Parts: sequence; C-alpha cells; structure tokens
Amino acid sequence: MAEILGIGCTHAPMILFPPEHWVNVRKRLSERIPNYERPARLIEELGDDNGASHDKKNHKRIGDAFQVLRDKLHAWKPDAVILIGDDQAENFKRENLPTFCFYTGSEVKGYPFHAASDNNNVWNIAPEAEFTYKCPDKFASALVSSVIRDGFDMSSSTELSGWEWGLPHAHINPLMYLDQECKLPILPLFVNCIGEEAGDGYPPRPTAKRCYELGRSIRKFLDTRSERVAVIASSSWSHFFLTEKFQRRQFDAEFDHRNLELIKNGQGSKLAEISPEDIQASGDHEFLNWIITLGVMGDRPARIVDALDDQSQVSFKVFAIWD
Ligand SMILES: [Fe+2]
Repeated sequence: MAEILGIGCTHAPMILFPPEHWVNVRKRLSERIPNYERPARLIEELGDDNGASHDKKNHKRIGDAFQVLRDKLHAWKPDAVILIGDDQAENFKRENLPTFCFYTGSEVKGYPFHAASDNNNVWNIAPEAEFTYKCPDKFASALVSSVIRDGFDMSSSTELSGWEWGLPHAHINPLMYLDQECKLPILPLFVNCIGEEAGDGYPPRPTAKRCYELGRSIRKFLDTRSERVAVIASSSWSHFFLTEKFQRRQFDAEFDHRNLELIKNGQGSKLAEISPEDIQASGDHEFLNWIITLGVMGDRPARIVDALDDQSQVSFKVFAIWD
C-alpha cells in the first residue's frame, strides 16, 4: 500500500509577481467585466493606498504558507508527485480537449516567464528560463491502465506541444515555490475545469461527483503500490470574475468557508455532492482539482496552513496538508 501525502495550494498567476504588481492584476481582470463595480469589502481592504500595504502583508502570508508546504514535501521524499491542475485552453484547445489527461512522458518542461518583458518576478528569473522535471513515466502508465480498467476512459499524453509555455500555469506556478530546483518526480494530471467558460465550442467541465470518483479510482491504484506518493491539488477556489451569483464582482467566500470547514473536519466526501449549478454560480470551477484530491485522501482531516479570504486576492486561496 502506497504512503500518501496530500497538499493543497493556489496557482494564481499573481503569486509569481511582487505585490506592487498586484494592483495591475486586479485592474486588468476587472476591466473584462461589463459594468464592474468594486464590492464594499474590496474598497475597505484597498484603504487609502490602493491596497499596497494589504498586498504586501498577503504576499508574505503566501510565501510563508508555500514554505511550510515545500518543507513538508521535500522532507517526505516522494517517489511520485501527482500534480492536479487544469489546462485552461493552454496546451489543449477546443479541437481536442480531454476531460482528464495524465502525462505519461519521461520529462516535462515549463517556461513560466516566457515572453515576459523583464525579470519582474519574485525571484528575478530571466524571461526564457526553462524548468525541466523528470516524470515517473512507468508509474504513470500503470496508473492510467488501472483507472481505465476501473471504468474511467482516461486520456494520456507523452508530450505537450500546444503552446510555447510547456506546462500550464496550474502546474508550473506552484512548482516555482515548491520545487524550483526540479528535484521532484512530477506526474501532471490535466483537468478541464474551466469548461464552456473558455469560449465557444469548448466542452463542459466534469461534475464534482465524477472528480471525486476519479480520486477514489486513483486511490484504488495507490493501494496496490508500495511507493511514497504525494498528491497536490493546485488551484484557488472561488474567483471573483467567475462568480455569477455576485455578477462577477466578488468571490463567494461564504461558500468556500463552508467547504473549508468540511475539509478541515474530514468530511471531504460531502463535496462530491456539489452540483454543477453551484460550481458555476460560485465561480468554483477550479475547485474540481481539490475534489479529485479529496477522493484520493478519503475522509482524512486536513491541516489548514492558511486561508486567504481577502477580496483583493481576486480568488479564495487555501494552503493545506493531509499529513
Ligand atoms: Fe487557473
């Protein structure tokens, strides 16, 4: 039986950039929303410096939380790291977009700063820097066979060729905090969380129930193995610009706090019952990455390292460990 460590974190693009840059992220995203108006909570947080002091404080919280996750992950020495994130019309586009796809190649590359105009990221990394991760390809192929025999019509891919950034931002962004040295054996899982929201002709996202069942199927395979396997859920939860319930003006902190309590109390299986309508209304599309992880972990309580519910964060961000 494999030993399993669970990790949950955000992959928000803003985490790659210094807090002084975040005001531009909020501006760019809100400009996409017709008739956008700032919610009262956001106005309060921004204070009289347009959020500068608030952002600085939250930047430190995010860095500190990632450090806890990183220390745990490296000390634990996993043989494989199943990294669950969505490909948001990055490598996989409308002409061929799998609902779920495991990466079964022997290595994978990411260029998270590709086409940047300068080194304006947290680490001053040059724009064209390449990050190459070794992947546990035989383990991945055995996993794919197992879930197919268990009833999932799983897709797989041995290379990424859809765009110049390599790994999607859901996978490479957290790796900049968790493993910039490319030491961990990474096994990406791509999930179509965004669904129709990506544009005309894009297929619908899977249900929470199906995601949870996939997690259970992955767990069945892990229970036949002897490796040490870390599973990482990579995504923020509700996003303000996806939350139809609030006209895409604020994220659904109440919904996410309810879900957070369930995860903390070891009742993750309840989240398989979230309806597609609730996911859509609350802008929790990417939370599906966490629901797959919950399926793997079962009803094991999570330790919440931090949870940021400030509206200035754009999305609800949770950092968790299933020890
Ligand atoms: Fe994302």
